[in-house]
Amino acid sequence: MTETIRIELGARSYDVHVGPGALATGLKRLQGGKRRFALVIDENVLACQSDRISQMCLALDIVGDPVIIPAGEGAKSFRQLEELSSALLSMELERGDAIIAVGGGVTGDLAGFAAAIYKRGIDVIQVPTTLLSMVDSSVGGKTAINTSQGKNLIGVFHQPARVIADTGFLETLPRREILAGYAEILKAALIGDADLFKQLETAGANSISAGRIPELIAGAVRFKASIVAADEREAGSRALLNLGHTFGHALESEADGKLLHGEAVAAGLALAFDYSVRQNLCPAEDATKVKRHLDDIGLEYGLPRLRGAPFTAKAMLDRMRHDKKTSGGHIRLILARGIGDAFIHDQTDMSDLLTFLKDKIQ
Ligand code: GLY
Repeated sequence: MTETIRIELGARSYDVHVGPGALATGLKRLQGGKRRFALVIDENVLACQSDRISQMCLALDIVGDPVIIPAGEGAKSFRQLEELSSALLSMELERGDAIIAVGGGVTGDLAGFAAAIYKRGIDVIQVPTTLLSMVDSSVGGKTAINTSQGKNLIGVFHQPARVIADTGFLETLPRREILAGYAEILKAALIGDADLFKQLETAGANSISAGRIPELIAGAVRFKASIVAADEREAGSRALLNLGHTFGHALESEADGKLLHGEAVAAGLALAFDYSVRQNLCPAEDATKVKRHLDDIGLEYGLPRLRGAPFTAKAMLDRMRHDKKTSGGHIRLILARGIGDAFIHDQTDMSDLLTFLKDKIQ
């Protein structure tokens, strides 16, 4: 069964189809008319999803060969953006045509950025194939590449014209990637849905059983839809979606490719709750519950044991200071008054944060 969730953004509104039949539903909606599509696809997805790729090629007028994006964050680069843009130009794609981006967050972010700047903007259809990209990065219009200074520092908002989150793609996704994607579902519960956290806590490791995943994705997308509709360009409340991300991005960058984004976010969630407790903002019991649930699921959060360790507090703080969420020289953190009650905290004391990080790294 497929559920369709509407992202309400006036003229930029679009549908997100979620579930095992989402690809068929989404393709049907794209058919008709003279529109041509450039298929931009992650190399691993191309290698192991031939049936679904054929389904797309039969349903749509795809121009030329697929543009293959190498797996891994390294592809979110100026070089890859240039290669992709020139491939699109060689296809003579026109303003009314569209890109269909098939892959995880890397492919989606890169192809979304290319769509935003190609001939001053063409449509992109996001077809996320990882749990993480289904619940978070494919929805909401953030596109970006990385630079040596940090992740996602160069990019634009460019809403997709449609998102097709077919859970069939998850059948070939490694368990590690499923766990990493789960971190973004947990994030949604911790920001604003204490009841959902209770359900996840009760289910423990069963939270990520295959049968539950479509509903979890739909729940996370509905949650994100409400936040994005209220604050498309992150002037205010959308920043809540960054819970765990300022710590997480620092860990991810320092780990130099050894840590998946969702793994870094999971550790970042634990750090955000621990730091909230340290600031006397949140009951210690709530941070304990979050970490117990991460243990149940099998998501590591202890900094000395994390892939990419050892980390140093100073290097992490430097990364956090260069994060694009810095405002007026202050590091903006999303902290919590409790589970399901996150808020934006702009006045972080750097020396206190450094001491906290040192304590966590030991
Ligand atoms: N991933 C956070 C956001 O889309 O705002």
